[in-house]
This record gives sequence, C-alpha cells and structure tokens, in this order.
Amino acid sequence: METANTPERKKVIFSAIQPSGTITLGNYVGALRNWVGLQDDYDCIFALADLHTITVRQDPAKFRKNALEAYALLLACGIDLDKSLFFIQSHVHTHAELAWLLNCYTQFGELSRMTQFKDKSQKHADNVNVGLFAYPSLMAADILAYQADMVPVGLDQKQHLELTRNIAERFNGIYGQTFKVPDPYIPKVGAKIMSLQDPTRKMSKSDENVNSYVALLDKPDDIMRKFKRAITDSDAQVRYGEGKDGINNLMGIYSVMTGKTNEEIEREFDGKGYGDFKLAVGEAVVDHLRPIQEEFTRLIGDKAYLEQCYTKSAETALRISQRTLDKAMKKVGFVKRAF
Ligand code: TYM
Repeated sequence: METANTPERKKVIFSAIQPSGTITLGNYVGALRNWVGLQDDYDCIFALADLHTITVRQDPAKFRKNALEAYALLLACGIDLDKSLFFIQSHVHTHAELAWLLNCYTQFGELSRMTQFKDKSQKHADNVNVGLFAYPSLMAADILAYQADMVPVGLDQKQHLELTRNIAERFNGIYGQTFKVPDPYIPKVGAKIMSLQDPTRKMSKSDENVNSYVALLDKPDDIMRKFKRAITDSDAQVRYGEGKDGINNLMGIYSVMTGKTNEEIEREFDGKGYGDFKLAVGEAVVDHLRPIQEEFTRLIGDKAYLEQCYTKSAETALRISQRTLDKAMKKVGFVKRAF
C-alpha cells in the first residue's frame, strides 16, 4: 500500500507502432507526439510491433530496413531511453506466448466484428490469413503483459482497445484479478488525421497515392507540394465546420504544429485564401519535422548504438512481461516450469 513516505507508483503506459513502411504525419499527430509528451509523468513502454506487420506479406530485406529505420525515427521524435523502454516486439517472446493464451479467451465472433480486419481482408483478399484475424489478441497481449493503465493511440485503434478490455475482464472474471484493464488515451485534436487527397478517409501509410500522406522523412519540397495540392472545398474561408473535411483536417494539423486554437487560426487567416493557409500549414510541418529528420540521419548511421538501445529495452521488457505470463499460466493451470 502507498504510505505518505513511499513515492506514488507512476501509472504505466503501453503503446506500439508497426514498422510497415513509411511513418506518417497521421501516426505522429495521433500517437507519437503523445508518447513523447507522456514520458515524464508515466512509466512508458513502447514497442515496434513487427509481429503484427507480417499479417501482410513483407519483402524480407525491406522489412528489416523499415524496422531499423522506424526504430531510429522514433528515437529521433523524442523517445528517451533514460525514461522509457522502447523495444522490438519480436525480441520479447512473451508477447506471442501470451497472445496464444488470450486467443483461447477471445471469441471468433468478436474478431469477426473488427472493422480493421474487414477492411484489410478486402484489401488483401488473396491473403486473409489467420494472423490477420487474430491480430487484436496479439495487441491485447502486448498491452496486458505490462499491466498497462493507459494506451495512447489514434481513433482507429479504439475498437481494438475495447476488445482488449473485454478480454482482460473475461479472464479476470474466470480466474480472479490477473490483468489490469487499460484505458485508451485518444487525443482531442488530431485523433484521426485524414488523407490530403480524400479528407473523408484516414491518412494511411499504405495508401497508393503518395500525395495523400506526409511521411515524417519527406523532403521539405515534397511536403510543401502535398499541402499545396491538398483537397479542400469551394468555400474559400478558413473556418472549422461541417462539410469542410479538408479544411478541418488542415486546421487540426496546424493546431498541433503551432499550439493555436481553431479560433486563433480563423482569426489569423481572416480575409486570406486557402492558398495562404495551405502554405502556412506546409511550412509549420516542415519546421516541426526538420530537427527530427536531422536527428534521424545521425542515428541511422549508428547501427551499433541502435542495437544497444533495443537490446537493453527488450531485456527489461522480457523480465516485466514474463511475470504477467507466469501469473496467467499459473491461473489457467499449467504445470509450473522448474527451470
Ligand atoms: P499503426 O502502426 O497503424 O499506427 C500507429 C499509431 O498511429 C495512429 N494512427 C493515426 N492517428 C491519427 N490519424 C491517423 N491517420 C493515424 N494513422 C495511424 C494509430 O492509431 C496508432 O496509435 N495495431 C497497432 C500497433 C499496435 C499497438 C499495440 C498499439 C500493436 N500492438 C498495442 C497500441 C497497443 C497499429 O497497427 O498501429
């Protein structure tokens, strides 16, 4: 129990991102910037969810390169290993083991209702594999293994988080308190950054149209071009409102980049056209990403350092998650391993 003399235990945060190619401004605004901001106040555990990535076929050499680059990029974004853990999911075998256990407490019907499964199985109709189906119970294992209190994600992960809670409650209901039931942490602004080419759809790194997303490693000229070409409407007034998906999206991005409220943005661009606004958004993003890109270039050249970082974090993560796995296995009734 906490007493006046013992320092209060910090709450635990867990989150992860897939290294499935380009990391986008959507990932950054919806999730990564919050990861960075939460590090002082929480015990943060972050992972590169590479086991999730093979639910879609990967080219081995590209997959390896993407994972290392994503690792370096997240460090460049501000993940601080003096405060947080940041490891590669496949290096910590407890995730896959706990996922198997949780698969047996997850219903076929529940997984069938996941909208991401429905979307992805349409998109990859030639490879609707069992891993794609069971993806959310691996996600539940990631989170529950660390007894996480909170999970900072974008809006698209909300349904998976609800399922995670249901699985944890079901298991606890059968065996007694085993897993902490986690809460989602979804930002008020920027929880769903939309495509620059179709603002009714989510900005996604797997979009075939490169103009629809901004990658964190895009060159300044490309970023400016993408914002100049962003689809808006014919109203021509920088105002937040219904039917103005494109402008609402740009205002969300600008607000996160500059810290300005919608009212301040409307005032700043009063009497100015969309052209001026798009330029300002592009410039704000370029300025924000510049130091991140510079740090990335430095880090990606130092593979030995990266290896040291992800190995050290994985060792600690394994120790923490093994405790939860052992506890869950004991409750289910497995014979205790004696080694
Ligand atoms: P992933 O890799 O698709 O995305 C990483 C994070 O970025 C958020 N995000 C967005 N936020 C706002 N606007 C967008 N357009 C946008 N696109 C992506 C996502 O919500 C996510 O927070 N299954 C997860 C990875 C994962 C995970 C976990 C997350 C594996 N295990 C455990 C949390 C906890 C995924 O594919 O995210």
